[in-house]
Amino acid sequence: MFLGADQLRGPFRAIASNVAVITTDGDDGPHGCTGTAWAEDPHSPFIVTPLDRGGRTREYIARSGRFAASLLAAGQADIARQFARRGDRFAGVAYTFGPLELALIDGAVVGIECQLEASLEFGTYDLLVGRVESIRHSAGTPVLTFCDGTFGTHVPAERPDG
Ligand SMILES: Cc1cc2nc3c(=O)[nH]c(=O)nc-3n(C[C@H](O)[C@H](O)[C@H](O)COP(=O)(O)O)c2cc1C
Repeated sequence: MFLGADQLRGPFRAIASNVAVITTDGDDGPHGCTGTAWAEDPHSPFIVTPLDRGGRTREYIARSGRFAASLLAAGQADIARQFARRGDRFAGVAYTFGPLELALIDGAVVGIECQLEASLEFGTYDLLVGRVESIRHSAGTPVLTFCDGTFGTHVPAERPDG
C-alpha cells in the first residue's frame, strides 16, 4: 500500500537535513541546484545525493558523469534560495574550481568532488552515488540545516564532555 502525500507531507517536512549546492560542468560552464548530500563511513569513500529526475542538474550530471557537493555554512541561506530558483544561479556567488574542474562554493563547510558511480531510480527522484575524488573542509564552521521549511543550524543537544 502506498501512503498519500497528505499523510507524508508533515512527517517528511520534520526530517532535518543539511543543505548543499550540487554542481556539475557543461559545455557552457557550471550548472547546479540546491540539494542535500550525506556520507556515513570514512572507510567507504562515497556520498549520496537525491535529485529530481526531471531537473536540469540531473540531466547535466548524466552527461558529464561527475558532480560536486558544497555543504553550505549557516550564513549561506541566501545561496541556497538562489540555487533553488530560476535565473543565473551563480550570479554574485563566489566559487572556485576543484581539481576535477567542478565549481565549489567559497565559504562552504565541506566541498566534495565526485565521479558518478551509480544511480538508483525511486519515485520521481534518482539517488546518485558519487565516488569522492577530492574533498576540502573548513573545520569548525557552523553548518546550514533545513527543517519544517526553515533554514537553521546545528545546536548540540549535550555538551561534548557529557
Ligand atoms: C533547502 C532545499 C533543499 C532541496 N533539496 C533538493 C534535493 O535534495 N533534490 C532536488 O532535486 N531538489 C532539491 N531542492 C529543490 C531544487 O533546488 C529546485 O527544484 C531546483 O529548481 C532544481 O533545479 P534543476 O532544474 O537545475 O535541477 C531543494 C531546495 C531547497 C530550498
